[in-house]
Amino acid sequence: MAEPELDSLAERLLSIIRTKPGERFPTEKLLQKLTCDYDTLRRAGKLLADWKYRVKRNRKAFTFIKAPDLLTEIEIAHGLKTKSIGRTLVCYRTVKSTNDIASGLAERGAEHGTVVVADQQTKGRGRLGRVWHSPPETGIYVSILLRPSFHPERAPAVSIMTAAALADTFSQYAPGEVQIKWPNDVWIGGKKAAGILTELSADKKSVHHIVIGVGINVNQRVGQFPEEIRPLATSLRRAVKRKVRRVEVLQSFLVNIEREYRNYEKDGLRKSHAKIRRYSALIGHDIGIRTGNALVEGRALDIDIEGRLIMDQNGTAVPITAGEVSVVKRQG
Ligand code: BTN
Repeated sequence: MAEPELDSLAERLLSIIRTKPGERFPTEKLLQKLTCDYDTLRRAGKLLADWKYRVKRNRKAFTFIKAPDLLTEIEIAHGLKTKSIGRTLVCYRTVKSTNDIASGLAERGAEHGTVVVADQQTKGRGRLGRVWHSPPETGIYVSILLRPSFHPERAPAVSIMTAAALADTFSQYAPGEVQIKWPNDVWIGGKKAAGILTELSADKKSVHHIVIGVGINVNQRVGQFPEEIRPLATSLRRAVKRKVRRVEVLQSFLVNIEREYRNYEKDGLRKSHAKIRRYSALIGHDIGIRTGNALVEGRALDIDIEGRLIMDQNGTAVPITAGEVSVVKRQG
């Protein structure tokens, strides 16, 4: 049997035996279902082991034990409850940047909802030209391609909408500890656990596409972060004090972002506004905000229905669309 055929047989074998983890599937029955001979079935079983699935196998039966925490198409798609986001999945072991791959795919006509995932990035990009440290086997590096029908003016709020989806996912693991640092970061316990880099391709009248790039710290230990960000960074593992399955986190995030995006397209931030304000790490605090070279200080008053930060600058409420925020003084 040629390699691609063996791959697909292994996938079919997997989809049968993983329906009942821990249960024995008699070889005889599998041979009938898969219409192959014993030697081919044995090789397919060996392939699953090479892919890091734990499967008990002997002449008489196959038993599914455990799936690996790998960000592969098979694992992400397994049980993914979304309609459009992630229906097309493009997964890599190593890429320079998933945002670059997603932009390239967008230029070549990839469909709305295409998701690009990598286990490692060699040139992960953060905001403001920073590097996003992207080592293997620990984090999630994901880019989502959107093809909105709304006006480009509505694009900036996509970042805060994404932050809301992420915050909901994190809250499943660390309830009460999650905050959004407007507009692009999600914190757990006051430290950054995820960052968002939204890239827009548009003309004056219409959006061609949006790529939302998200870096999520899942299983990093403190010592694994570069020294300069160590005091400011955290991971889900640190918050919950156990290893977390990346596949599970990613699936939850894709479900949440599909819902948030559907709501946003239909009604703007109306449905999520209260939640976004509740998650906010800034409202009520004195902050500094850098836009270009200018640094402005003032009190963060609110986040409005368009996702803008409302800041008190010498008694005037000024809406801010974008910028790099630092907390000057934490109140209370
Ligand atoms: C930030 O906080 O500065 C934003 C970080 C965004 C990092 C993600 S990882 C996946 C995607 N690919 C990239 O090169 N960057 C984003």
